[in-house]
Amino acid sequence: MRVLILGGTAEARSLAAALVSEGHDVTSSLAGRVSRPRLPVGRVRIGGFGGSAGLARYLAEHRVERLVDATHPFATTMTRHAVEAAAATGVPALRLARPGWSGHPDVGAWHWVDGYAAARVAAERLGSRPLLTTGRQTLDHFRPWADRFVLVRLVEPLEEPAPTSWTILRDRGPFSVEAEVTLMREHAVDVLLTKDSGGAYTSAKLDAARELGVPVVVVRRPALPSGLREVADVAAVADWLR
Ligand SMILES: NC(=O)c1ccc[n+]([C@@H]2O[C@H](COP(=O)([O-])OP(=O)(O)OC[C@H]3O[C@@H](n4cnc5c(N)ncnc54)[C@H](OP(=O)(O)O)[C@@H]3O)[C@@H](O)[C@H]2O)c1
Repeated sequence: MRVLILGGTAEARSLAAALVSEGHDVTSSLAGRVSRPRLPVGRVRIGGFGGSAGLARYLAEHRVERLVDATHPFATTMTRHAVEAAAATGVPALRLARPGWSGHPDVGAWHWVDGYAAARVAAERLGSRPLLTTGRQTLDHFRPWADRFVLVRLVEPLEEPAPTSWTILRDRGPFSVEAEVTLMREHAVDVLLTKDSGGAYTSAKLDAARELGVPVVVVRRPALPSGLREVADVAAVADWLR
C-alpha cells in the first residue's frame, strides 16, 4: 500500500516504523517548522503542500492509496486539509491521535477551557506567576501579559522578541517530574497553562503541579472535522490498511 503519513509527532514516527516493517511504501510529511526534527524511517518530505488543493494534487501525482493524518491534536488546519483533500481525490483517510490527558487522576481538579484567550482569563484568577506551555503559535493570545512575569517554555526559538518581563526556556522534553518540580520552584510558578496534548513526553508537569499544589488550566482539544475516523494507536491503523 502506498501510504502518506502527515506527521510531526512521536506517534507518526512509530506508525512509519510499523508500516515500513510490514512492507508498505511509506512517505512521512513534516511541516518543516522544527530546525532539527526527529526523522521517521522511510521516505520523508518536508514543507507545506499549498492548502488542501496542493495536498490533493500531491495525493494524485504520487498515486497515494491511503492517507493517515497523524499530526498533533492541535494541528487543526492540516487535519481540515487532509479531510478536504481525501474527499476531493477519493483517497481513504484516517486520523491517528494519542489519547488526551482526560484519564489523568487529577483531571477533575483542572480548569478546562476552550481556547487560549479563555486560558489566560482563567489563569489570571488562579495565580500571578504562570508557566505557559501551550506553544509558540499561541503566544499572541498572551500579549496582554506583556508587562508581567511569565515563564514560557518552547521547542523552537521565537521569531520576534518576547516582552522583557517574560522568561523564555527552550526544551522539548521528555521531562521528569523531579525536573519539573525544580523548575516550578525555581521560578515560583503558581499556575500552569497547558493544552490537552496527551502523551508521556510532556505530562510530568501535571504531576509536578499536583505535588506543589499549583492549579492547572487545560485547553480542550478542538473538535474533529465530521466524517474523519480517529484511532488511538498504531495497531488500529495497521488493521485499517489490511
Ligand atoms: N500544534 C501543535 O501544538 C504541535 C505540537 C507538536 C508538533 N506539531 C507538528 O507541527 C506541525 C505543524 O503544526 P501546526 O499546528 O502549525 O499545523 P497547522 O496549523 O494545522 O498547519 C498549518 C500549515 O502547516 C502545514 N503543515 C502542517 N503539518 C504539516 C505536515 N505534517 N506536512 C506538511 N505540511 C504541514 C500545512 O501547510 P500547507 O497548507 O501549505 O499544506 C498547513 O496548512 C504538524 O506537523 C504537527 O504535527 C504541532
